[in-house]
Amino acid sequence: MNRILVTGAGGYVGVLMCETLLNKGHQVIALDRYFFGYDKIKQLEGNPNISFLKDDLRYVNTDFLKNIDVVIDLAGLSNDASAEIDPQLTVDINHKGAIRIAKAAKEYGVKRYIYSSSASVYGAGAKTSLTETDPLAPLTQYAKSKVAVEDDLKLLHDKNFEIVLLRNATIYGLAPRMRFDLAINIMTMRAWKEHNIYIMGGGEQWRPFVHVRDVIKAFILCMDAPSEKVAGETFNVGSNDQNFQIKQLAQYVVNVIPNATIHRIPDDADNRSYNLNFDKISNTLGYKTEFNINDGIIEIKNALDKGILDPVDPTCYTLQWYKSLMDWSKRIKELSYNGEII
Ligand SMILES: NC(=O)c1ccc[n+]([C@@H]2O[C@H](COP(=O)([O-])OP(=O)(O)OC[C@H]3O[C@@H](n4cnc5c(N)ncnc54)[C@H](O)[C@@H]3O)[C@@H](O)[C@H]2O)c1
Repeated sequence: MNRILVTGAGGYVGVLMCETLLNKGHQVIALDRYFFGYDKIKQLEGNPNISFLKDDLRYVNTDFLKNIDVVIDLAGLSNDASAEIDPQLTVDINHKGAIRIAKAAKEYGVKRYIYSSSASVYGAGAKTSLTETDPLAPLTQYAKSKVAVEDDLKLLHDKNFEIVLLRNATIYGLAPRMRFDLAINIMTMRAWKEHNIYIMGGGEQWRPFVHVRDVIKAFILCMDAPSEKVAGETFNVGSNDQNFQIKQLAQYVVNVIPNATIHRIPDDADNRSYNLNFDKISNTLGYKTEFNINDGIIEIKNALDKGILDPVDPTCYTLQWYKSLMDWSKRIKELSYNGEII
């Protein structure tokens, strides 16, 4: 049994991460601002092995880290568009916030810190089958913040404070805090709701994909692995057979939702294209993905059919939701009178 701090516990990966860790008998502290709603994780409240810390990684009192064995770092502005809203905010949360927690974790004797980096650190990859030793070319504020954290974490790494960097492929699949800003998820939702699939940027771009539950599996494998296999190591997380061009994804969606029409939108300025090699995690840790994109499309379609998933839930659209929060915050400040709105 480990005592684990999960930052970003209320997020797309975070809620399922906490649930999986609890099912394996671990103790969890779930730290998050819960920007997407505490209701997404509320179902775990009855479990005596989880405690909820509704706080901000930039400011939280870090004393609780003295009782923690492992940190799983999932917090932050989690896509390119959200990270562009205010570049300084991205530095403060994604970079400085993460390093603040990591430094405190090291001081308090936490043994292992597993960081959720991204395949986007490779940018517009000059070659296919990019490995962990290939040069990085981050193109966006988001990807730059991931590289900055990776670099600083490596400086903190030593034999008592083991750093593991996981560069996740683009994630898909059903989760309590659903994200409709991720390629497979949004294609499926639009095909189901509007009978349309939009392929942006011509569809030639390569992306690696991985199911949300397979990401969780990789984190837990790295948490359980002996030091000599993972300490100070970086792993691409995904599988070689799940590198796809965006145009190929549309066909998978149409196979499950046949009444949808594919539209190609050629003028999107997204230059990111990367195709990854996942041999290291497979060879070092015996990691194998359990899910494929067809599984993800089917589970999302089924959840939409059953009404479990609301396609217009505004919290599923990361950028728009953050922008709304900022807008409301501004309006509330303007309207406040003696601490009240009305
Ligand atoms: N989803 C993907 O495709 C993908 C791919 C590669 C890497 N990642 C990374 O994995 C991690 C988890 O991604 P996700 O898809 O679950 O994103 P998410 O947006 O659903 O979750 C991030 C969580 O961080 C919380 N958060 C943001 N700022 C905070 C702050 N200042 N203090 C405390 N909590 C804060 C949010 O409330 C949210 O619940 C992120 O680091 C993301 O960059 C995600």
